[in-house]
Amino acid sequence: MKIMDLLMSGLGKLSPRFVAFIEKRLTSVSFIRRRIEQEYADIIAELDTMLKPYRNSIISFSRIPDVGRDRQEIIKEMEAMRTSEESKWKDGFVSGAIYHGDSTHIDFLNRVYAINSQSNPLHSDVWPSTSKFEAEVIAMTANMLGAGSLNGDAAENEICGVVSSGGTESILLAMKAYRDWARHTKKIRKPEMIAPVSAHAAFNKAAQYFDIKLIQVPVDSHYKGDVDATRKAITKNTVVIVGSAPSFPHGIIDPIQEMSEMARERGIGFHTDACLGGFVLPWAEKLGYDVPPFDFRLAGVTSISADTHKYGYAAKGTSVILYRNKELRHYQYFTATDWPGGLYFSPTFAGSRPGALSASCWAAMATIGEQGYLLATQKILKTAEVIKKAINRIPELKVLGEPLFVIAIASDNLDIYKVMDYLAQKKWSLNGLHKPSCIHLCVTLRHTRPGVAQRFLDDLKAAVEYVKENPEMKGEMAPVYGMAATLPFRGVVSDLLKAYMDVLYKV
Ligand SMILES: Cc1ncc(COP(=O)(O)O)c(C=O)c1O
Repeated sequence: MKIMDLLMSGLGKLSPRFVAFIEKRLTSVSFIRRRIEQEYADIIAELDTMLKPYRNSIISFSRIPDVGRDRQEIIKEMEAMRTSEESKWKDGFVSGAIYHGDSTHIDFLNRVYAINSQSNPLHSDVWPSTSKFEAEVIAMTANMLGAGSLNGDAAENEICGVVSSGGTESILLAMKAYRDWARHTKKIRKPEMIAPVSAHAAFNKAAQYFDIKLIQVPVDSHYKGDVDATRKAITKNTVVIVGSAPSFPHGIIDPIQEMSEMARERGIGFHTDACLGGFVLPWAEKLGYDVPPFDFRLAGVTSISADTHKYGYAAKGTSVILYRNKELRHYQYFTATDWPGGLYFSPTFAGSRPGALSASCWAAMATIGEQGYLLATQKILKTAEVIKKAINRIPELKVLGEPLFVIAIASDNLDIYKVMDYLAQKKWSLNGLHKPSCIHLCVTLRHTRPGVAQRFLDDLKAAVEYVKENPEMKGEMAPVYGMAATLPFRGVVSDLLKAYMDVLYKV
């Protein structure tokens, strides 16, 4: 109300009719805003119940218990929670999230974790084994992503990297490295990065954290980053251009060849975000699929993020960020030479890190091997093919673009979020996306198990029929997504998301 009063006081010099018009608009805007806030408060109250299912069944602590609890009891409770949660992902009802999930693989990774549970790469003198594992994870990933087929000067082609905690950290690290590289070598004080709107939100996060201006360019009708728009967006302050291989929302590979060449010609960095596709596309190419170039074989690509904890089939908590040379990697490193705590250095954001995760990442790659990755990729791409074809035969639905294994589904005449709501009732946990409104299924090994793809397609067809026959259906998430997609008050939407996170931290 205060803002409105202020605005109104400034309108005194304008014509009374105009003032009345503005007054009416502002009143209705604040009315709508209040209505939305009320609706969102109701949503949060519902979420509270949904997100805290163990409140009444399992003991909670808001302070450390006076006397430590029995270990067996703790294990029993955790096993009970695991049992109630695991059927959803084990039976393949979840998009992405669990990329392998076979129990023999999980048991193996858990054993490896247990052997290494005390190790910390910060103390490389105490655990040289961790340094071995990380160096080899990086070398194997680099080799897979083009380093193995480069000719020429060794120093120039010295592909190197670090192990990070996940895709987001890899992206944040790379963007920080480009900012500092450009500041040091080109005196750029107001750095800018260019990324298609479909690039992962982690780039937006990097822009916010490191004060880099993010210039977003549109995608074309095939959901690929627009090459002309990228060219036009380049300024003297551009430090890096980004492309995805493939993008999270629609699973589309950007025109990395053209975009990275544009960057190379101008001495700008180019980052390929292969967090999702890094451990799929090289094998897909070997299997004969049509994979456009995206890795270090392109001279303009100066860094790549590839997530071992996705299709690398490692446990959650590792990713690899690769650079074309050590110079760039040095801009990522942190050193403190005058700290009373001693000479300090750390390659990533964290200080202490779980060496056990690096060990299990190494073990995953070593045990799966090239043959295992090829087989897994073949299964995933074949399953995705079946799903895509079947969706395209449903008249009300369409697949966006021509993806390989992340399938975004939209509709011109149905509310796709209602379709998602129906599927949620059938246990499916898909991702709702917007701009344009769609949902997606990221196909993993869970979906290649017998009967899973067919069950998805049967449920999807039933969902379409139901939504068609029940236009009055309100749905649970449909109104939230619908509103969030179209609402002009992005601040309200952002507040809702913050309120959601607050709920997560409530005991
Ligand atoms: C293309 C892409 N980039 C980055 C990320 C971020 O990865 P993480 O969730 O491991 O931080 C994802 C996650 O799905 C992704 O699909």
